[in-house]
Amino acid sequence: MKHLITTSDFSIEEIEALYEDTRMFNDLQSNSYLSGKVVVTLFFENSTRTRSSFEIAAKRLGAQVVSLDVGTSSRSKGETIFDTVANLNAMKPDAIIIRHSECGLPGSLIDKVDCPILNAGDGMNAHPTQALLDLFTIIEHFDGKTQGKKIAIVGDVKTSRVAASNVKLLPRFGIEPIIVAPEHFQFENSDLRQVNSLSEVIDEVDVVMSLRTQLERHSQVYYNSLQEYAKDYCITSESFGDRDILLLHPGPVNRNVDISDEMLEDKRNKILEQVSNGVAVRMAILKKLIN
Ligand code: CP
Repeated sequence: MKHLITTSDFSIEEIEALYEDTRMFNDLQSNSYLSGKVVVTLFFENSTRTRSSFEIAAKRLGAQVVSLDVGTSSRSKGETIFDTVANLNAMKPDAIIIRHSECGLPGSLIDKVDCPILNAGDGMNAHPTQALLDLFTIIEHFDGKTQGKKIAIVGDVKTSRVAASNVKLLPRFGIEPIIVAPEHFQFENSDLRQVNSLSEVIDEVDVVMSLRTQLERHSQVYYNSLQEYAKDYCITSESFGDRDILLLHPGPVNRNVDISDEMLEDKRNKILEQVSNGVAVRMAILKKLIN
C-alpha cells in the first residue's frame, strides 16, 4: 500500500503521471472514480485551504468524507493519537488524511493502519500536497519547461514545512530554490544559496514564493512588530517592478506583511490559481492512492 508522507514517496515518473490526471481533473467537475469510498480527515491544526481542498477533492471523486472534529472527539478524554487512529482504522476507511503539529507523526502511523495515510502537514517537517500543487502551478505556467528556472523562497523559511517540501521537490524538476531571508529565518547547514535581500536575486529568478511568518512556531521574539519585518520582506510593486515573474504563496497571506495589497491584485500573482490547482492535484493523489 502506498502513502504520501513526503514528496519523496513519489518518483518523478509517478508525479508526471499524477499531473496527467490533474489536467484531466482541472475543471473540478464531479465524477465517480471513488464512488463508495470513505475518506477520513483529521486536522489537529487549523486549516482553511488544505482541509477544504482535500474534502472537496474527495467529494468531487464521489467519495464520502468523515471529518473528525478533534475539539469534540474523545482525545479530550485522554485517548492517545495512536488509539484514535487505530479506532478510526477499525471502521475501515479507504484513506486517512491527517495534519498534526508533531513532526513525523503521520509517518509513524503507516504500520498501524490498513489504508493510505496522507500527510496534510506535520509541524515544520513536510507539506507534500502543497509542494506538489506549487510545482504543478509552475509547470503549467512555463509550459513544462522548468529546467534551469530559479525560485526565490522569501521569508520565514526555517520553520516552514512548505519550504521544506519545496526545496526537496523542485530541484528534481530542474528548479533551483534560492532562500531570501534574514539570518534567523534561513536554513542551518544547507547547500542552498541563501541571501538576505530579494533585490540581490530579483533579476535572475523566474518565480517568487512568499511565506507567512509563522509566529506560532517561534521560541523567541524576532521582531517587535510584523511591520518591522515587512519593511524588508513584504513583496511590493517596487520590489517586482515590471519583471515577468510568477508570484506564489501557500496561504494564509498576511496582507501588507507578506505581500502588499497592490501585488495581491497584480496579474502576476497566481495564488488563487494555486488553490484551484490544489483541488485537482489532490483529486489525482486520492485517485492514485485509494484505487
Ligand atoms: N497552505 C495551507 O496549508 O493552508 P491552510 O493552513 O489554510 O491549510
